[in-house]
Amino acid sequence: MAQASYHFPRGFLWGTATSSHQVEGHNPPNNWTAWEQEKGRILHDHKSGLACDWWGGRWREDLDRAADSGQNTHRLSLEWSRIQPAPDRWDEAALDRYREIMRGMFERSLLPMVTLQHFTLPLWLAEQGGWENERIVDDFAAYARKVVEALKEYVTMWVTINEPNVVMASAYLFGDFPPGKKDLGAAMTAGRNMLRAHAAAYHAIHKIQPQARVGVAMNYRGFAPARSWSPLDRWAARTQSLMFNDLFPRAVQKGKIYLPVGFQRIPEVAGTQDFIGVNYYTRDQVAFNLFKPGELFARRFFLPGADLSDTGFIANVPQGMFDALKWALQFEVPIIITENGVEDADDDLRPRYLLQHLHQVWRAVNFNWPIKGYYHWSLVDNFEWERGWTQRFGLWELDVETQARRKRPSADLYAEICRENGITSEMVERYAPEVMSSLFPD
Ligand code: FCB
Repeated sequence: MAQASYHFPRGFLWGTATSSHQVEGHNPPNNWTAWEQEKGRILHDHKSGLACDWWGGRWREDLDRAADSGQNTHRLSLEWSRIQPAPDRWDEAALDRYREIMRGMFERSLLPMVTLQHFTLPLWLAEQGGWENERIVDDFAAYARKVVEALKEYVTMWVTINEPNVVMASAYLFGDFPPGKKDLGAAMTAGRNMLRAHAAAYHAIHKIQPQARVGVAMNYRGFAPARSWSPLDRWAARTQSLMFNDLFPRAVQKGKIYLPVGFQRIPEVAGTQDFIGVNYYTRDQVAFNLFKPGELFARRFFLPGADLSDTGFIANVPQGMFDALKWALQFEVPIIITENGVEDADDDLRPRYLLQHLHQVWRAVNFNWPIKGYYHWSLVDNFEWERGWTQRFGLWELDVETQARRKRPSADLYAEICRENGITSEMVERYAPEVMSSLFPD
């Protein structure tokens, strides 16, 4: 068959994403290290432990891997609990270490995208109520100021908070993340404080660095009505999407928190995003269920026969990526795919997942939607929160005991994509022939 290719705009960002607690190791006292000590909180009581030993220096070899395989950017997060170990103490040595890592990225021609807060809070802050205590708003702004002063010569792309919507749901509604609550009121309080903290940090960053680009990384999840003819299923799917996907970024855009009925004003937040980060992994089917008021009357499941990841955590629904980007357009700012990937230890799904999702990104780019880059989750297997070490998202496999890395075929595929700045029929033939006819029809 004829050779064909789908190319991306010049200057497109190609990278991978990581987060501090998941890769650094020897994590200091934060809400997650404390959570790991509680029996039954993490699957098999796994611990983050040495993680990928980045704090011990292995960031060098992993960022070498990223750079040597054609990536031009990397997204990582800073560990607030290292930088501010106590309310009245900044750890300058930790900031120096982060400066060294940023310099290391520049030496490797990897543009840094830095997340200020990726799920973890210093333990002292968590003990004061974490996101439920409005004091965190000023604390977060002070932390942002400290960090931006320290790193401004290297970093202009900032994510304030990673997936505030996942924190609202997992920490305050489903109880899987610390503090393990199941309380809608607490979720809303936390959400409001996250919004205000984000806005305070946005202004603090811009004051120091007017040219900064600041955004939030949202987890966009697709919600499709299980029976498209059913008004109740459609209502349930819409409500899930409204609360999970829309609430936070709409508030950032408009300064109003839209609820299923009515809205609350939060004017100081309006207009505080220079781009929107989209983390897309999967899509749910949603059926109305009267017996699930705590989950907004929704039963969620994957389509029977779905193409599932190792532990059934992710269904491969590439169309959802297109939907996510279309959804992101409404915020009228540039869009960056800040995470996308799949847990797949033996790498038999990842090549097609990657190609199919990038094909959808390419479709969106061709409508001239302002999509600036793509970050694959993740560079190397890392500690997956309450799922411990049971899920393998890396382009490189990690042996947690020995710290040895082994390249998965997808790492080579992604390197080819980054170098080509596109996907080609030849790549699909070699790495995922099973999707050839759908990606490159005759
Ligand atoms: C996202 C998180 C990231 C990682 C991936 C698999 O929700 O932001 O840290 O756990 O899921």
